Amino acid sequence: MGEKMKIIPGISSQLLATRIAAELGAEACLCEYKRFPDGELYTRVIDKVKDEEVVIVQSLMADTGLIALLQLIDAVEEAHKTTVVIPYLGYARQDKRFRPGEAISSRAIARGISFAGIVDKIFVVNVHNRAVLEYFDVEARHLDAAPLLGEYLAKRGIVDPVIIGPDEGARDLAKSVAAPHGFEYDVLEKKRISGDEVIIQPKELSVKGKNVVIVDDIISTGGTIAEAASMIRAREAIEIYVACIHGLFVQNATLRILNAGVKDIIATDTIESIFSKISVAKMVADELIK
Ligand code: R5P
Repeated sequence: MGEKMKIIPGISSQLLATRIAAELGAEACLCEYKRFPDGELYTRVIDKVKDEEVVIVQSLMADTGLIALLQLIDAVEEAHKTTVVIPYLGYARQDKRFRPGEAISSRAIARGISFAGIVDKIFVVNVHNRAVLEYFDVEARHLDAAPLLGEYLAKRGIVDPVIIGPDEGARDLAKSVAAPHGFEYDVLEKKRISGDEVIIQPKELSVKGKNVVIVDDIISTGGTIAEAASMIRAREAIEIYVACIHGLFVQNATLRILNAGVKDIIATDTIESIFSKISVAKMVADELIK
């Protein structure tokens, strides 16, 4: 069934798209991407997709990713069925109007992607806020890669790891990673000690003498993780690892995290980097043929 699909590798998701195609036994279509002298992006799907079932795989990390996705959707307009896999949906943190006059960026993007009526179905891996999926005009399904993080950590053989989310917002992620393997988990909280002193510590567990894995959905500048790692190191953890779904690693994120005493950084291939030790390809492929 899956082998009949044609996988269109977006400019930002070449490796993952190829892996998904391999999982399905499907063809990964040849595409061309280049820039015009003024910086505009040129996108072409070279292989024929008329009346075919196509799956576009494209993460939206920077603005180029969005332009390329819109171009690909337009390029495959003659396909019989078009599914879009967005391994990393950027702009999802701007999920509501925090101040008057602001754009709800995730809604603007969702509207843009589903507006032309070409896309039939959308899959998004670990969107920062699932409510954003309601902004798409077509069925948008959430895929959870957290269990893959747990499986990786279990296989890696880290002894009795404690899974720590850097804030309350990461509690569900920490639980999804930890629970299937019986790992302990907790989140960090800020506690005011006096008028000008705030400490950050795990809410319930002690990390002293433990191996700790800090988990978050996104690592961008690394600031959140570096701060968490420093606090955990000060509390005498043995080894500290970091695992995330989407590793953007912008600016000097890698340096900040490693300087904070982290032994290793683990991410999935929703955004491709040297830290992409876990692939979401099989999870995505399995969903595509459901
Ligand atoms: C925030 O709500 C997210 O879950 C991440 O904690 C955040 O995006 C990480 O950003 P940074 O790496 O820049 O601290």
